[in-house]
Amino acid sequence: MTTTLRSSSSLPLRAAAPLLNIVHVVGARPNFMKVAPVMRALSGKENVTQALVHTGQHYDANMSEVFFRQLGLPEPDVNLGVGSASHAVQTAQIMMRFEQVVLGRRPDLVLVYGDINSTVAAALVCAKLGIRVGHVEAGLRSFDRTMPEEINRLLTDQIADWLFTPSADGNQNLQREGVPAAKIHFVGNVMIDTLVRLLPAAEQRDVLSRFGLPASGYGLATLHRPSNVDDPAMLMKIMETLQAISRDVPLIFPIHPRTRQRLADAQYALHATQLQLVDPLGYLDFLALQRHARLVITDSGGIQEETTYLGVPCLTVRENTERPVTVTVGTNILVGQDMSHLKREVHRILDGDHKQGQLPPFWDGKAGERIAAILVAP
Ligand code: UD1
Repeated sequence: MTTTLRSSSSLPLRAAAPLLNIVHVVGARPNFMKVAPVMRALSGKENVTQALVHTGQHYDANMSEVFFRQLGLPEPDVNLGVGSASHAVQTAQIMMRFEQVVLGRRPDLVLVYGDINSTVAAALVCAKLGIRVGHVEAGLRSFDRTMPEEINRLLTDQIADWLFTPSADGNQNLQREGVPAAKIHFVGNVMIDTLVRLLPAAEQRDVLSRFGLPASGYGLATLHRPSNVDDPAMLMKIMETLQAISRDVPLIFPIHPRTRQRLADAQYALHATQLQLVDPLGYLDFLALQRHARLVITDSGGIQEETTYLGVPCLTVRENTERPVTVTVGTNILVGQDMSHLKREVHRILDGDHKQGQLPPFWDGKAGERIAAILVAP
């Protein structure tokens, strides 16, 4: 379904703005929360047509479909159906299939989101065809090139024409890398737009009672980064630590497919009774769980941001973060892969000693509107 909005053709006196034909590309779970506010904001603009392309990088219903439904996203106009594969194969498949879409639709502009393989693949196709690209969530850097996402960020930002940054550090990184200032727009955090819009709906969910969790008396864990889960020894160390922590505070751990696979490979058996491993949750249930958690343990990028917005203490099991504002301004602490550090910080939080945090500038629910205004400006 394509959303087409045109001004009335019966008003000859006012010169119509040129038609802007935009294609949005998404592929994996964290993209869906980012595209929704931009599409919504653009759907209010005259002379804009929009199409949504899903690469199919994430394909399970609980990693994709439930998000489309809960976020109110339209059905994708095109699904490239690439599925899982090695990075090279996945990226190449997206490029081959997306090139055909671009050649057929000839968009004026393609918007890509975040830092996943779909982001860099689509941007590269457009750069080669001379189609302009906008990158939403530009400029973030972990300075760790062993992370696949860091490579995706660096390359996408070098070839994008519009770079929309969520925080001031993004502007600084891009300027240092030689990106012309005129291309860089500090618009704020689109992920937070979605959170602000849907928090009231999340508050209506009965997810705590469904999982038997006491209000404000539980912790929430999510881990799926290759650096944590692909090494069996590291994964076992993490699982033992979570089991130990769950003796002091009940933990719920919605398991990403990558992590589930690694646990199955390792024939992992759960011993503790207060650590619940559950399937991935939809957006609203997960947001409700974050909102009421006493603490969150994660290696996700988006969750570092959402907990900062919610004022919930976040312990990030990584040595670095591409979202430093969550540490300097927000509620995030990097504990690295040191499990004794993680346990120490958990106990400090349970003792009532935790960062209060503040909201970074422009994390106000209006980033999508700022992007739309920039794109349609004459
Ligand atoms: C991808 C992104 C990562 C993002 C994450 C969010 C890249 C390089 N990584 O990592 O930045 O944080 O998504 O979830 O783009 N699988 C399923 N069903 C699915 C999707 C994946 O079973 O719907 C399984 C497959 O076995 C696959 C594995 O999960 O091999 C990993 O999926 P993949 O999309 O390759 O990377 P993610 O680890 O999800």
